[in-house]
Amino acid sequence: MTPPENTFDDLLTEERTFDPPEEFRAKAHVRDPEQLERAKSDPEGWWAEWARQLDWFKPFHEVLDWQPPRARWFHDGELNVAHNCIDRHLDGPKRNKAALIWEGEPGDTRTYTYWDLHREVSRLANGLRSLGVERGDRVAIYLPMIPEAAFSMLACARIGAIHSVVFGGFSPESLADRIDDADARVLITADGGYRRGNVVPLKRNADEALERTDRVEKVVVVARGWNVSRTTGTRMVPDRDVWYHDLVEDQSADCPAESMNAEDPLFVLYTSGTTGRPKGIVHSTGGYLTQAMATTRWVFDLRDEDVYWCTADVGWITGHTYIVYGPLANGATVVMYEGAPDFPRRNRFWEICEKYGVTVFYTAPTAIRAFMGWGEEWPGRHDLSRLRLLGTVGEPINPEAWMWYREHIGGNRCPIVDTWWQTETGSILITPLPGVTTTRPGTATKPFPGISATLLNEGGEEVDSGYLAITRPWPSMLRGIWGDDERFRETYWSKWDEGTYFAGDGAKRDAQGNFWILGRVDDTLNVAGHRIGTMEVESALVEHPAVAEAAVVGRTDELKGQAIAAFVTLREGRPRSEELVVALKEHVATKIGAIARPADILFTSDLPKTRSGKIMRRLLRDIAEGKALGDTTTLADPAVVERLKERYEQEG
Ligand code: PRX
Repeated sequence: MTPPENTFDDLLTEERTFDPPEEFRAKAHVRDPEQLERAKSDPEGWWAEWARQLDWFKPFHEVLDWQPPRARWFHDGELNVAHNCIDRHLDGPKRNKAALIWEGEPGDTRTYTYWDLHREVSRLANGLRSLGVERGDRVAIYLPMIPEAAFSMLACARIGAIHSVVFGGFSPESLADRIDDADARVLITADGGYRRGNVVPLKRNADEALERTDRVEKVVVVARGWNVSRTTGTRMVPDRDVWYHDLVEDQSADCPAESMNAEDPLFVLYTSGTTGRPKGIVHSTGGYLTQAMATTRWVFDLRDEDVYWCTADVGWITGHTYIVYGPLANGATVVMYEGAPDFPRRNRFWEICEKYGVTVFYTAPTAIRAFMGWGEEWPGRHDLSRLRLLGTVGEPINPEAWMWYREHIGGNRCPIVDTWWQTETGSILITPLPGVTTTRPGTATKPFPGISATLLNEGGEEVDSGYLAITRPWPSMLRGIWGDDERFRETYWSKWDEGTYFAGDGAKRDAQGNFWILGRVDDTLNVAGHRIGTMEVESALVEHPAVAEAAVVGRTDELKGQAIAAFVTLREGRPRSEELVVALKEHVATKIGAIARPADILFTSDLPKTRSGKIMRRLLRDIAEGKALGDTTTLADPAVVERLKERYEQEG
């Protein structure tokens, strides 16, 4: 593992700074740095104050039990997440407030008040109970961006079942692996969903997945629309499959919420790591919800009248924390959109912003770069004057994109919050607070109150350029990797002492103490804001009968941040061909999902290896980036890499 090179040196000379506009500051939740003093002097007491804003069925007395790397927050208390996201808003003015405003890609819309949400979630929760789902059971969710995705998550939370949402773009094989790993007995899916005018045949994928695993006993199928079912030819397996609408039809809207221990798992969410197998990140009930609520309110300065839209998919952590749990715990109005940003035209997002009067908008740098490429005339057609705050997440944002976002979406008036966090951290850890922080394009600025972050070198000394480390526990931190304690300790808590969290990112700190995140330092890639393990792609490639060996690296991509470049050695007697390149790309997309499709494949008879046989990915990265080759003296055969570089330049 090597820290990233100083590719972002020019960033640190970024001189443009933006203070919070006075009008914004005057009304912001956090407008005075003094409000942050308590978090500094007594972080645990400060987090406990947030936790006490939730409804507890049994109050907690102890805030934190920290036996590194095991943290237990509020662990003698009991609560229910669905109760906190829904029921507690029903006795006041929020009862008839829109909780969810949903728009399908074809243009159909549905709106649910908090009262409606309570009914929908309770009926589904009772439906799941009728299928035999109990506290602690795992339920896999493989759905498009439709309201039922949120209902399903909340219904699980209501009855204490642990959900495992699998992104709808993942392949049947990826779905089957995740079902197996978490031992899920029930799967909730849909006949299909819309994407760029086409129907994604989710049920067909799910059926294929279920041919690979026999764990699932019941499949609940949402009818996204009868047209969809006709298109996909949805086939229901007797005794196993049940239509969602049939399941909930006769269920009561009264479903008492289970009283859960604060440390009971709320969900498992899989993310890529350095091995071929994704890891199931486990999140808790009380600590997770506390920090999801706190960060949503303070980072997005959320107020009652806001219309808040996070464009992520619920299949990722951003969708969990900032579409469902954080906003609903705050009683906010959430916009949810099913489809692509350029369907039917490239103004779809801005049309939605105008139509619903979106005030807070949260998206990814990769999307912003696409908007930039499409041109400002698209947002220019719409009245975006209601927007008051913009956010970004998922990867480093280049200053040019940040400035474009500020000018063309934010009308030079909206503060931008560049939020750094991960699947593992559960919620935002490094971010501006829009009423007090001076922002600069390209930096996520400072740790959220109550969070202690720093930069360390290999030896654990504090430095201004090194590995990002979190030095105190935080409420929404991961509680483990599902079924793999050893990997949990090894991956996150073994680099320095057992109480210091290794985030896997390299970063720099400037004279003002701002953090500039440079990117991953492990063998994972960040493609369009999504983490993909190089080993996962390599394993998929070598499963192809023509492939003997493969090495995968990331190269810079203007739009997606990184693109996947694969160096492939073929088995003896397998000829190289353009068709094989296409077939291998397709093979990876089928095995993992379209997000993992390699951009480049280069055949080679040798890979650069050390004398002990380790593939030198660093050199392959240099080749893929078109850079001068670094130190090649440790190679078994330095000529290999020279030849490869020449070929890549010709063919790549
Ligand atoms: O490398 C960092 C990058 O995304 C990684 C986490 O990926 P994932 O768990 O999929 O979660 C993405 C959404 C929270 C991090 O280790 N990353 C995330 N946010 C930022 C970022 N890099 C730079 N700036 C950010 N704001």
